[in-house]
Amino acid sequence: MSIPSLDATGKVVVVTGASKGLGRAMALGFAEAGADVVVASRKLAPCEAVADEVRAMGRRALAVSCHVRDWDQCATLIDATVAEFGRIDVLVNNAGIAPVPPSLIDVTSDLFDKTIAVNLKGPLRLTALAAAQMTAGGSIVNISSKASLHPTPFTVVYAAAKAGLNALTKAAAAEFGPRGIRVNAIVCGTFHTDSLHASIPTEEMQSEMASNVSLGRIADADEIVGTALFLASDASSYLTGELISLDGG
Ligand SMILES: NC(=O)c1ccc[n+]([C@@H]2O[C@H](COP(=O)([O-])OP(=O)(O)OC[C@H]3O[C@@H](n4cnc5c(N)ncnc54)[C@H](OP(=O)(O)O)[C@@H]3O)[C@@H](O)[C@H]2O)c1
Repeated sequence: MSIPSLDATGKVVVVTGASKGLGRAMALGFAEAGADVVVASRKLAPCEAVADEVRAMGRRALAVSCHVRDWDQCATLIDATVAEFGRIDVLVNNAGIAPVPPSLIDVTSDLFDKTIAVNLKGPLRLTALAAAQMTAGGSIVNISSKASLHPTPFTVVYAAAKAGLNALTKAAAAEFGPRGIRVNAIVCGTFHTDSLHASIPTEEMQSEMASNVSLGRIADADEIVGTALFLASDASSYLTGELISLDGG
C-alpha cells in the first residue's frame, strides 16, 4: 500500500468566495498541490487577481463572477468550468456571509433571505450541479461554522443557515456515496479574515475570543488548507458525511 498523498495534480477544483479570505487561501493551496482552479465570487476583478496568482504557480485558472444565491449563475459557473477544463473533481462551497443583527426583532425579512440564500440555497444548487458532472473520486467540501453547533442570539440566522449546510452535507453524502462522490464539511472556528475583522474589530475583542480557544489564538487563513486538501484527496477516501471541527480546540 502506498502512503496517502495530498497531491492534487490534474484535479479541477472550483472554489466559491475565492477572491479573499479562506477561499483565496484554499484556491492557492490547491494550486500549490498541483490542481487547476476555478476562482469564483461576485466581483470578477479580485477573482482575476487570484487566478493570476494560480497561473504564476504554473497551473491553469479560470475566474468567474458568480453570485451563489442566483441559481442561474450557479449553473453558469459549473458550465464554464466544464467548458474550460472538461471536468470537475472538487467543489468547495466556501462563499458565505455572516451579518450580525443586534437581536431577533432586528432580523429583517431581507437579512434572513440573503443569509439563507448565500450560505445554504447556493451551496445546495452547486452541490447538485457539480455532483452531476463528477465521477467516482469526486469530493465536495462545505465550509461551515462552529456557530451551526453553538448558536447565539446574535448569530441565529447565520447559525441556522450553516446548520442547514451541515444537513445538506449529510444528505448529499448519502445520495452521492453510491457513485463514489464524497461530501464533508469543515466546521470552522475563528480565522483572521476580513469578515472576522468586520464583526470583531478590536484587538481586545480578538484576544477575548482567543482566550476561549485551547490553542490560545485565532487561526491564520491558510490554516484551513491542510484540512481542505485532506478532504479532497484519497487520503480521506472512506470519509463522507462528516463535520470536521477546525477550531483550535
Ligand atoms: N473567518 C472566520 O472566522 C470564519 C468562521 C467560520 C466560518 N467561516 C466561513 O468561511 C467562509 C469564508 O469566510 P471568510 O471569513 O473567508 O469571508 P470573507 O473574507 O468575507 O470572504 C468572503 C468571500 O465570499 C465571497 N462572497 C460573498 N458573498 C458572495 C455571494 N453571494 N456569492 C459569491 N461569493 C460571495 C466574497 O467575494 P465577493 O464580495 O466578490 O462576492 C469573498 O470572496 C464563509 O462561508 C464563512 O461563513 C469563516
